[in-house]
Amino acid sequence: MELFKTKIAGTGKYHPERIMTNAELSETVDTSDEWIVQRTGIKERRVGSIEKEEFPSGMAERAAKIAIKNAGIEVNDIDLILFSCTLPDMMFPNSASCLQERLGITNKCGALDINAACTGWVYGLTMANSLIQTGIYKNILLCGTEMASQFNNWSDRNTCVLFGDGSGAVVLQRAQDGDSSQILDSILTSDSTKKDSLILPAGGSKRPVRQDVLDEDAQWMSMDGQVVFKNAVKTMSSHCATLLERNNMTIDDVDWFIPHQANLRIIETTGKLLKCPEEKVIINVELYANTSSASIPAALHEAVTDGRIKRGQTVLFAAFGAGLTSGATLLKF
Ligand code: UT7
Repeated sequence: MELFKTKIAGTGKYHPERIMTNAELSETVDTSDEWIVQRTGIKERRVGSIEKEEFPSGMAERAAKIAIKNAGIEVNDIDLILFSCTLPDMMFPNSASCLQERLGITNKCGALDINAACTGWVYGLTMANSLIQTGIYKNILLCGTEMASQFNNWSDRNTCVLFGDGSGAVVLQRAQDGDSSQILDSILTSDSTKKDSLILPAGGSKRPVRQDVLDEDAQWMSMDGQVVFKNAVKTMSSHCATLLERNNMTIDDVDWFIPHQANLRIIETTGKLLKCPEEKVIINVELYANTSSASIPAALHEAVTDGRIKRGQTVLFAAFGAGLTSGATLLKF
């Protein structure tokens, strides 16, 4: 069976207008700009507004319009929408269908939400690649969009300083013959033995948000930061090493490394384990904090737009999140 190649044809991003600085957070919880910068590298984050339609499908609409324009296609060229989101607009209809309407897509294309927490966009990339490789679709819109401010416990200093809202989108497209751009390889894993270390147990069917949940103030996420930290560094570095090895490459062959933007210390430790020079690592966590599955596509868009990432260059993505999921992708941009 002939396999087609998949390329990232266009990128886009959106972050809400409202900036919340560490100083502002330290007025409401027992923290400080110094602690947050030293332990995470984060200086500020964006917080979405429902009035400004900065919920997931609204942010994704803004990011997707940029990605579609940059890909040089029309909205009705999209064959499938994949929407990675940890907390969707609503339980159903899915956010991908809401996005179809918002973009004015009238071709009735398929629309699917994916939840692999912060790794969701990398999971979506692998799914989309398979659907394009096998010839089923030609243009897939893949969004990673998160409104973490809605599940952030704003009185828990262990978690609330870490997250922000935002969206990143790409159009994945069947590559033409002779096109140097293509997705080369990817790895997806999940270690459910550690699933309780990053969890939002209420709000689903098992424990709907009723009075008892509110009485216990249990409607928020909770996290064992050190378990997640260690797992993140271990899985991201080993997945990247495996991808390089099985594609007969070394880190010297990689032009850019875009790790999930969760914590500068995680990014730096992973980079060191991979022996990746600092100047090859794309970092914007200081401005947006951890935007979960939006972080890699948004950072990609920034680096493409400012001219760092060029066509044909080799790029490595690595992500981790609740599950504990993890994944990495190697590609020629
Ligand atoms: O996409 C996946 C999302 N999750 C992550 O990426 C999280 C991964 N984990 C981490 O990034 C780090 O573990 C944290 C940034 C969450 C915490 O850093 P740490 O170096 O592991 O700190 P710690 O948990 O060991 O806490 C050290 C101290 C504690 O005080 P005591 O017990 O030593 O007195 C905490 O209570 O820092 C305290 N602390 C804070 N202090 C000021 C925890 N959060 C804060 C805070 N401000 N925001």
